[in-house]
Amino acid sequence: MPEVLVLGANGHLGRNLVETLLKKGYSVRAGVRSLLHPLPIWEGRSAEVVQVDILDGASLDQAMYGVEGVFHCAAPTALWAKDARKEIAAPILRGTLEVIEAAHRQGVKKILYTSTCAAIGFHAPKGSVLTEIDWNRETQHPQFKSKVEAELQGGKLAKKYGISFVRVCPPSILGPGFYRSTPSTAPYVGWINGKKIAVPDLAYHVVDVRDLAKSQLHLYEMADVQDRYIVCGPYTGTQEVIDILRRGMPLLKNPILLSSRMLPIAWGLEWIQRQVTGTPRTLTRTLIRECGSATQQLDGSRFLATCEPGWAFTPLETTLWDMVHWIQRSKIH
Ligand SMILES: NC(=O)c1ccc[n+]([C@@H]2O[C@H](COP(=O)([O-])OP(=O)(O)OC[C@H]3O[C@@H](n4cnc5c(N)ncnc54)[C@H](OP(=O)(O)O)[C@@H]3O)[C@@H](O)[C@H]2O)c1
Repeated sequence: MPEVLVLGANGHLGRNLVETLLKKGYSVRAGVRSLLHPLPIWEGRSAEVVQVDILDGASLDQAMYGVEGVFHCAAPTALWAKDARKEIAAPILRGTLEVIEAAHRQGVKKILYTSTCAAIGFHAPKGSVLTEIDWNRETQHPQFKSKVEAELQGGKLAKKYGISFVRVCPPSILGPGFYRSTPSTAPYVGWINGKKIAVPDLAYHVVDVRDLAKSQLHLYEMADVQDRYIVCGPYTGTQEVIDILRRGMPLLKNPILLSSRMLPIAWGLEWIQRQVTGTPRTLTRTLIRECGSATQQLDGSRFLATCEPGWAFTPLETTLWDMVHWIQRSKIH
């Protein structure tokens, strides 16, 4: 089997992706930024762990030497940073262009790039759904804006070099297999650990991380150059998620549900908290303006059309319970 490189291999998606690739018999080079962070044991199978920073061309060259393809899922997932340009935008945009440049130098012909459905958009015209032809060009959020640019500029650069650059746009990624939470899993970690949490009352898609890993491998093996795919699981909402979890754990404290009108107040409280305790923020005014009242309905049929009959996304309950058990078993805080 050919050798592939996974960038961001100790992240939520990266860990699951390495697992999926190893199960399919691939030789895997697992690219991690720091060897000091906990390294996963991929269920007894070994991946070659390499240290790589996506902003450092030399380390990318070394990591890519001799591989057939690259799964690029390394990116900051924070929605807020003190210096958003440096800490969020640069690794996403410049990091992706560095990955493509290194792929060109090393003769790698295929990159599977994990973008986000925030690059598709949050608001479909009434009565319709968002598809791969939609682009969130209005966004001012540093993470979403740089994902849009990484897809567009990355696509152009890859085309120039004759590299296949397949873009996958997932919604909120949930499920087991992470050692540090992302903005998508953090509320569950807090909640399961008994903290009183406040969550926005939203409607959204989710995707099980294992489904996403499996679909990335499927697309890697079949997709044409420059394709873009929405890979999204069930459409749900905050209340449904709370109901599912409280059915199995009735002692869980009820979270505070924040309507879109309450979000600016939550932003203000969080701002004060940061001044006092220095805790990182999760809400920004841009985020509230762009996503606060979003009902992001996505059409994932383009991806489904590539799948064998019988392909199905994991039911929401299974995803949530497997994630909860992972948080408890692995003592994630
Ligand atoms: N989580 C979601 O709900 C969600 C939704 C849509 C799209 N996505 C996208 O999916 C991809 C994977 O996200 P995830 O959920 O797996 O997040 P994650 O758990 O935070 O993993 C991100 C990974 O990227 C690595 N990374 C960050 N900056 C890097 C750099 N300069 N060089 C090398 N590695 C770097 C991190 O390494 P360290 O451990 O060293 O920090 C980590 O391994 C990202 O592109 C993200 O934007 C995520």
